[in-house]
Amino acid sequence: MDKRSSFGSKFGMLAAAVGSAVGLGNIWKFPYVAGQNGGSAFLVVYLICVILLGFPALVTELSIGRMAGTNPVTAFSTIQGNRHWNFIGIMGVLVAFLTLGFYFIVAGWSLEYIWQTITTDSFAGMNAQDLTTEFKEFSTNTTRPYLWVIIFIFLTAAVLIFGVQKGIEAGSKILMPILFAVMLFLVIRVIFIAGNEPGYEFYLKPDFSKITPTIILQAMGQAFFSLSIGFAIMLTYGSYMKQGNVVSTCMQICILDTLIAVMAGLVIFPAVFAFGIEPTEGPSLAFIALPAVFAQMHGGMLFSVLFFFLLAVAALTSTISLYETIVVTVSELLHIGRKLSIVIIGFLLCATSAICCHSLTKGSPFVVCGKNIFDLFDYLTSSLMIPLGGMLMAIFLGWVVSREKSHKALISFGMSERLFSIFIFIIRFIIPIIILLIMLQQLGII
Ligand code: PHE
Repeated sequence: MDKRSSFGSKFGMLAAAVGSAVGLGNIWKFPYVAGQNGGSAFLVVYLICVILLGFPALVTELSIGRMAGTNPVTAFSTIQGNRHWNFIGIMGVLVAFLTLGFYFIVAGWSLEYIWQTITTDSFAGMNAQDLTTEFKEFSTNTTRPYLWVIIFIFLTAAVLIFGVQKGIEAGSKILMPILFAVMLFLVIRVIFIAGNEPGYEFYLKPDFSKITPTIILQAMGQAFFSLSIGFAIMLTYGSYMKQGNVVSTCMQICILDTLIAVMAGLVIFPAVFAFGIEPTEGPSLAFIALPAVFAQMHGGMLFSVLFFFLLAVAALTSTISLYETIVVTVSELLHIGRKLSIVIIGFLLCATSAICCHSLTKGSPFVVCGKNIFDLFDYLTSSLMIPLGGMLMAIFLGWVVSREKSHKALISFGMSERLFSIFIFIIRFIIPIIILLIMLQQLGII
């Protein structure tokens, strides 16, 4: 088995963690979930969730990983000496697997949009209606989206097999700032689109009366998803992190990740209202609203290619981290070589994504409880398993690990005494209670 690697530099760790956090969750998922949950009400709750729950949960997960220095499953027994809590790691790896099932599909959509723009410049002259029809036709096609999925899985596996993650990380250090610049440009560009005011109002004018427990659950699930919490990813990265300050690393991840998501909303909602798209459109929202903006711009084709390319790179750094976590766990637990586990998992992922992909086609039998498998995986992971995983990790570090041990570890990871007292209070009480209450409410128990 390969020797466990570790990050050579603080910056390498930050780049990999930000690479994992910034992805489709920010640009594709955040706006559509916000659109379905009241826009501005969601934004406010989301920001509170990031600060109050996301940040401490991120610190918790990275710290547990760093304290243990093993794979995410045995991390808990390494710290605690018994195996009772290892199931959290197993659940995290399962979440990573299910997430990839639908994540690869959306990543594939971004490849299709690069392809379409280059080959036909097909967005030029199209209105929102045409773009919606075009997207629906493409995404419900039985073969085409799946071909892109296979290409994306292959690409991710190749990166892992050839060990070129470092190269990708180095590349994304240049590309992610470009993505940021392009987003900033688009934020400014949509200011000049006529009829955008209702979009700003929808997204930015707080209306606290719209806040419901469902919105809180959605915002929390989205915050955790976006920060890659509850997936065993940050456990894995923490285990590679031999140096650096955990608190400031987490703060930087939270700020960058949230900034990109908020910016995505600032581009998409003004466009949505200006072009008469439904904000509740769902997973297709970004893939309709953004081309609608590009179709109206000078040099829109160039922007479209650049944007979807950068989106694909952002997705790739996320799929790498998800895939890697599953590989590390499987190869360490089953004692099989890294390459073999990459191949086996690759095949399994092809099968899961095939089901997800097929569930989007018309008349597909892959529908459970009125939800297609794509939506079901998304729902199961974001609304159930991820918050649960975050909560269990907080309980583990807050209640199961002795205060002495967690204190020693966190102070050595760079936390101040004062922050430690606040942090321990949040992970002991606030996170478990809030998550529990919301879950019970959702299950109709309270
Ligand atoms: N945080 C990523 C995103 O926002 C998704 C992801 C989750 C990636 C968990 C890795 C692990 O797109």
